[in-house]
Amino acid sequence: MFDSGVGGLSVLREVAALLPCEPVRYVADAARCPYGPRPASEVLKLSLDIVKFLLEKKCKLIVVACNTATAAAIDTLRKLFPHVPFVGMEPAVKPAAEQSKTRSVGILATSGTLQGRLFNHTKERYAANVELHVAAGNGLVELVEQGREDSPEALALLRTYLQPMLDSRVDELVLGCTHYPFLKNSIDKVAQGRMVIVNPAPAVAVQVKRLLAQRNLLADHAAAHPAYEFFSTGDVNILEQMQKKHLPQLSERCSFQALSL
Ligand code: DGL
Repeated sequence: MFDSGVGGLSVLREVAALLPCEPVRYVADAARCPYGPRPASEVLKLSLDIVKFLLEKKCKLIVVACNTATAAAIDTLRKLFPHVPFVGMEPAVKPAAEQSKTRSVGILATSGTLQGRLFNHTKERYAANVELHVAAGNGLVELVEQGREDSPEALALLRTYLQPMLDSRVDELVLGCTHYPFLKNSIDKVAQGRMVIVNPAPAVAVQVKRLLAQRNLLADHAAAHPAYEFFSTGDVNILEQMQKKHLPQLSERCSFQALSL
């Protein structure tokens, strides 16, 4: 799995819960985080370098645990490595549109994701009958990377993005960036029960399981204690602290290494 930073841990949390026997290698490209404001061509190049590293490590499936990298790179990755199963992040507009009672859906994502073909395709396909309110969550990824997801700054920033949505009666909020599930407490404080948060990570874990099963690649249940290897191109401590805070149940089996690509 890879992400620009710690965001992909929100996906790892679901994958580890659904597939507790699968070993995981996780790359955080912290030296280049955030990806959101970077041109798609640059995010594609960075993603390619990480995928090559993971394939050298003999990974059998790759989760692009980053909406921005999925938007910029997944089509090319699938063409370049047709034998490798890739699972990407797709903004969960479809379930949100189906569940919205007010017919008003919000999406919070990075500008890279919102400009991507994938999001625009999803929007046209699934959000034709709802009003879609879109906000680029500039600054939120940085706060999560600093471990300040519950800080007054996070609350203030979220208020600027979410208040206009609340004023437009948005009742379903799609999280289109894997860092944002860690902001759940702050989002709930701003929304005060008026928005349901839609996180695509559980559906991604189901897709990982489906693809592994289809290809007969599921880990042997006898090997019940898989290792979780974490690599970071930046400060490894940030990744370790975030793992301890949000995935403490994995701690005994985690190792952390610096990576230069
Ligand atoms: N976690 C990321 C995403 O899902 C990356 C955001 C960023 O680095 O800007 O888009």
